[in-house]
Amino acid sequence: MFFRDVNLDGRRVDLRVDGDLIGAIGEVGSVDGRGLPALQGGMITAPTAEPHVHLDAALLGVRAPNHSGTLREGIRNWAALRDGLTRQDVLDRARTVVGWYRRHGTLRIRTHVDTGCPVAVHALLELREALAGEVELQVVAFPQEGILRRPGLREGWEDAVACGCDAVGAIPHFERTTEEGWQSVRLAYDLAEKYRKKVDFHCDETDDPGSRNLEVVCAEAIDRGFGGRVVAGHCTALHSYPNPYAAKVCELVATSGVQVVANPLDNVVLQGRYDAYPKRRGVTRVDALWAAGATVGIGHDSVIDPWYPLGTANLLDAAYMLVHVAHLTSTDEMGRVFRTLSEENHLPFGDVPRIAAGEKATFLWYAAADPIEALRTREQPRVYVRGGQI
Ligand code: FE2
Repeated sequence: MFFRDVNLDGRRVDLRVDGDLIGAIGEVGSVDGRGLPALQGGMITAPTAEPHVHLDAALLGVRAPNHSGTLREGIRNWAALRDGLTRQDVLDRARTVVGWYRRHGTLRIRTHVDTGCPVAVHALLELREALAGEVELQVVAFPQEGILRRPGLREGWEDAVACGCDAVGAIPHFERTTEEGWQSVRLAYDLAEKYRKKVDFHCDETDDPGSRNLEVVCAEAIDRGFGGRVVAGHCTALHSYPNPYAAKVCELVATSGVQVVANPLDNVVLQGRYDAYPKRRGVTRVDALWAAGATVGIGHDSVIDPWYPLGTANLLDAAYMLVHVAHLTSTDEMGRVFRTLSEENHLPFGDVPRIAAGEKATFLWYAAADPIEALRTREQPRVYVRGGQI
């Protein structure tokens, strides 16, 4: 295969695939592609990665519509549905959505699973094994209702981690008190240390500027040497913190190596629900985190679930929402948001795939000429090359 005059990270290049490897990349006209089937123009990126979605609840939004549009009603609706779920139902819905992701060139997916629903935990762990080699699925043991709010929650959460989840989750802002929230953060790290797992928090998903768990997540990451193995999802309270405190927290995030994952599709509709006009946007401070040198990811979070009634599993939709609500519409900012999907979004899985001569020929080809056109149209990649195979 030969790709002529394509956009690769802003450079115009020719790229030739030899067997399962990228044989050559060079300036336009410098790579020999005679006799090979060729595509002209467009853009090449690494496959995209999804750092934050809830496959256990996906597609359930139609069974329990969220009338108030609030996070709390979403949690209530999910709690009412989950006890009736069967293994097959979870598998069917999750497989459907994984298929949607694949169509958009996303083959690494980190899903949260509610540890209050053992059926879903086992179903998604089973799916992880069934998809191995095709899709890299990571499962986060996520205690949707907290771990300290009532007896039994903590045990279910610990069981899920013991069963083989890849990361330990927590939801500190949803615990009963500030102190119990901080305690839940420390318990999550303890459990991750015990089983040598990563941690991935639902952190401060509220408009309450008094919700201050992110600083604890970061301080513990530093003290325990967890560095790049920590994700803090949502972090919407950061949007509403007083500016001097927000600046301190952004610096702390950068120092700690904690990755913040923004979930703009859900948060732009779930947050601000207690506001009269003007209504806050409720998406974390991506520009300030970047300026501080922190690592940011972008998640889709929900696909037609009790929290969010829409969704396509196209990460470009999440990126598109983010550039709007976070005022990231300069050329450089849109480029960085687009690159996040195929670069920083891979960090929870370990490595960021490289497109270079000698590497495995695994990449996406978009008909769009550049990141701005890709965000504008949100068309799926036309060609997916994996290990040299289309
Ligand atoms: Fe989430």
